[in-house]
Amino acid sequence: MTKVLIIGSGISGLTCAIECASRGINSVLVSPFPSERAQSVLAAGGINAVLRQDNGDSIEKHIEDTLKGGGNIAGVKAVTGLCTEAPSVVRWLESLGTVFSRDEEGKIRQRPFGGQTYPRTCFAGTSTGKQIVTALVMEARRLEGQGLIERRFWSDFHSALIKDGKCCGALIFNEASGTLEAVTADAVVIAAGGQNMMFGKTTGSTQCDGYTAGRLLMQGVKLKNLEFIQYHPTAIETDRKNMLVSEAARGEGGRLYYEEDGKRVYFMEDKFGEKGNLMPRDVVSRTMYETGRDIFLDVSFLGREKILDRLPEVYDLCMKYRGIDITRESIPVKPTVHFFMGGIAVDLNHMTNIRDLYAVGECASIYHGANRLGGNSLLAAVYSGRVAARSIASSAPGSDGSDWSGFVKSEQDRLAVRREVTGDTTVSYVKTVLADTIGSALGIARSAESIAKGMETVDHFLAIKDEISFNKSELEYFNYRIDGLLNLGKAMLICADSRRESRGSHIRSDYPETDDAFRKATIVSLEDGEFRTELVVEDDYAG
Ligand code: FUM
Repeated sequence: MTKVLIIGSGISGLTCAIECASRGINSVLVSPFPSERAQSVLAAGGINAVLRQDNGDSIEKHIEDTLKGGGNIAGVKAVTGLCTEAPSVVRWLESLGTVFSRDEEGKIRQRPFGGQTYPRTCFAGTSTGKQIVTALVMEARRLEGQGLIERRFWSDFHSALIKDGKCCGALIFNEASGTLEAVTADAVVIAAGGQNMMFGKTTGSTQCDGYTAGRLLMQGVKLKNLEFIQYHPTAIETDRKNMLVSEAARGEGGRLYYEEDGKRVYFMEDKFGEKGNLMPRDVVSRTMYETGRDIFLDVSFLGREKILDRLPEVYDLCMKYRGIDITRESIPVKPTVHFFMGGIAVDLNHMTNIRDLYAVGECASIYHGANRLGGNSLLAAVYSGRVAARSIASSAPGSDGSDWSGFVKSEQDRLAVRREVTGDTTVSYVKTVLADTIGSALGIARSAESIAKGMETVDHFLAIKDEISFNKSELEYFNYRIDGLLNLGKAMLICADSRRESRGSHIRSDYPETDDAFRKATIVSLEDGEFRTELVVEDDYAG
């Protein structure tokens, strides 16, 4: 019987496991923490689908908005699949118990999000991700009872088991025992999320650090479009992270402004007209950045009743973290890293360049081009999990039966050596400097100069990587990840350097124009210690 190993237990991983189970395929879900702590629960705003066409909306318009919002480089075939299946994705989530907010007629309520020509974001208050996770966890537990799904927490990915171009499983690190175990499988699905840890304060979970992508790159897996990093326009700064003020606040009518001579300047509306506050995120963040001012978001005029009904979590978080009563006061907001359009390169079945190794959810790069539209990430998370499960079911991958004990031992020995390294350059220090470095090099606007400066630091750490000492007080998996993170950092800088134009979220102050020669995706690989990039047309690459 086919067995699938899934790395990550957020929405995309859970969906893939549930879909595999519905086809009689067993899966093991591995993650350091339970699903309830996954990045997915932070997804606030909603999930896009065309549920009605009587207002003039259509699947074609959803496709068009997604492609245009993404700077016209995503593949038409991939985006068509995503948007066409969106209504069935929402109905499926509902059938599993996701409680979507409803209008007076009892229909699923939909609100406008940035870059949409029609309101098509379905939501559950402003905790849509949490509601979806709850429904999927319930279903996964039911299937666990039937022996179709096994969930293993407090464990994490270390390396893929790859032989003759086929993935045969993964080395899993067990935090409790401090040991590595080779878990063989017919197919492996990576659902590890984005690479928040590569930056300082983001709106996302620091558990999603990019190690898996970095390690896979070192093992011959191709990555894509790493230069496209989404800065969400509205976050509020707190001590430990920047908290997301959902785009829903602007979807419900919230207005951005700055103050000049004691007056409010509604700069987005001045520049882009009535829909100015709901331009795609790359446009809003860039425009905010260009003002060079402190920016505020006002929703107070919506009235207390509507705010508490439609934006309860936004009200709570502003009150709790900053003591701001949004029914009376404006919110000081700033653009913050929120999402990674780039990640592991996959084909239309979500398979990587390694046979039977799949990637789904945010860690896979395929639908969003140079900028993602709000509400399309939850959609892509569920859709990609379904697509991968279908492909696994139809290709019936065979298991390998190799003895991996030699590999386990060599990696275990390598870890043991690293544990003994002493010195002042610790993993925590390097991670902090790396986040500052990548954050400065790849800010909203970047240039050859900022990238070169970042590269110098990353190259220095790569040169001394074996001398970096582990932080004994941290969980072990926090430590062994540093090589993967450094290689990922270098690949991100290389991608940003190679795209000498401005498109979507990638703004080069030294190449401000969009150039048709770059209407392609960037593929980056690491072979024999050499990083290589190539530009590919998405539809050709993805199949
Ligand atoms: O602003 C938000 O609620 C974020 C939604 C998303 O990233 O899709």
